[in-house]
Amino acid sequence: MVRGLGIDVVNIARIKALSPGVRQRLFHPDELAEAQSMDEQAGCHYLAGRFAAKEALGKALGCGLASLVPQRVLVARAEGGAPAFVLEQPASGLVAGYDILLSISHDDPVAVAVVVLSGGPDGPQ
Ligand SMILES: CC(C)(COP(=O)(O)OP(=O)(O)OC[C@H]1O[C@@H](n2cnc3c(N)ncnc32)[C@H](O)[C@@H]1OP(=O)(O)O)[C@@H](O)C(=O)NCCC(=O)NCCS
Repeated sequence: MVRGLGIDVVNIARIKALSPGVRQRLFHPDELAEAQSMDEQAGCHYLAGRFAAKEALGKALGCGLASLVPQRVLVARAEGGAPAFVLEQPASGLVAGYDILLSISHDDPVAVAVVVLSGGPDGPQ
């Protein structure tokens, strides 16, 4: 059963303009290292998709981005390149056993992400 749905669109130019300090508050250290390994434009596309994913998760949970502590939310790459959340507290506690589906797309000037929550502790899958 679907328990939550979130979508977010991010302007890639806004990510490009962020200061290093703000980036450290919004992104997991592994995400910043991955972006650093790319050329600047590709890194901004990558980070914009990750920021959209975190906003979409906050919407799906109904708690918003700040409650997740975004630098503790890693949007990793599973085998084949598909994105997958790797959550630390407090986000891991808020998710509370939900199954999370995530999809990201970017096409300059924007990146978009969609999150679906299903299952969870109070009901059938
Ligand atoms: C993966 C693919 C769908 C990306 O499409 P695209 O139009 O080039 O690029 P988009 O901007 O729409 O999507 C890119 C995002 O797709 C996601 N993605 C990559 N591989 C993926 C996969 N195997 N499954 C699901 N999502 C994937 C990633 O989040 C990626 O963004 P990121 O690199 O910043 O994490 C495309 O390269 C493709 O068709 N690859 C070969 C077939 C394949 O693996 N398909 C799986 C999905 S049907």
